[in-house]
Amino acid sequence: MLSSVISPEVKTGDKGSFYREIHQALQAILTSETDLVANLANSAALLFWSLPAINWAGFYLLKEKELVLGPFQGKIACVRIRLGKGVCGTAAEKRQTLVVPNVHEFPGHIACDSASNSEIVVPIIKDDLLVGVLDIDSPEFARFDDTDKAELEKFVQILNDAIPPQPTT
Ligand code: SME
Repeated sequence: MLSSVISPEVKTGDKGSFYREIHQALQAILTSETDLVANLANSAALLFWSLPAINWAGFYLLKEKELVLGPFQGKIACVRIRLGKGVCGTAAEKRQTLVVPNVHEFPGHIACDSASNSEIVVPIIKDDLLVGVLDIDSPEFARFDDTDKAELEKFVQILNDAIPPQPTT
């Protein structure tokens, strides 16, 4: 299904049109299904198999005040991350995207895959409530730039519209 949406040329074009195709593919995924786990699983697969030079893409979801591993593609990862810990917990607590050009210089970085050298974490916030984070790792240093940040924030925004309203208690 995805191969019909993402053309092979996507990896050779400019970043803007590359991400436009990614966003269109995400819209197609979300239009055909409402189940959150299924949608997060296909979103992780979409990113993992489309973005060049990455080794992990997936989600951590907030459960009882800590982040718990959700759908992902890549090597086995740590399951629970406390708010404020690692890149994921820090981005979640600050509610802001973190772009880390060198994870080895990030205090408290949690190394799930020793191949990872840079990382981006985008918080998912629905109706002012933290739902979780999107986390992407790369074996390249400084893999993610301002364009990746803006476009992946847009990716999360599109995803957000398909997330059901969160319980407030
Ligand atoms: N590096 C993350 C942990 C998750 S893995 O990268 C999949 C962190 O420091 O929070």
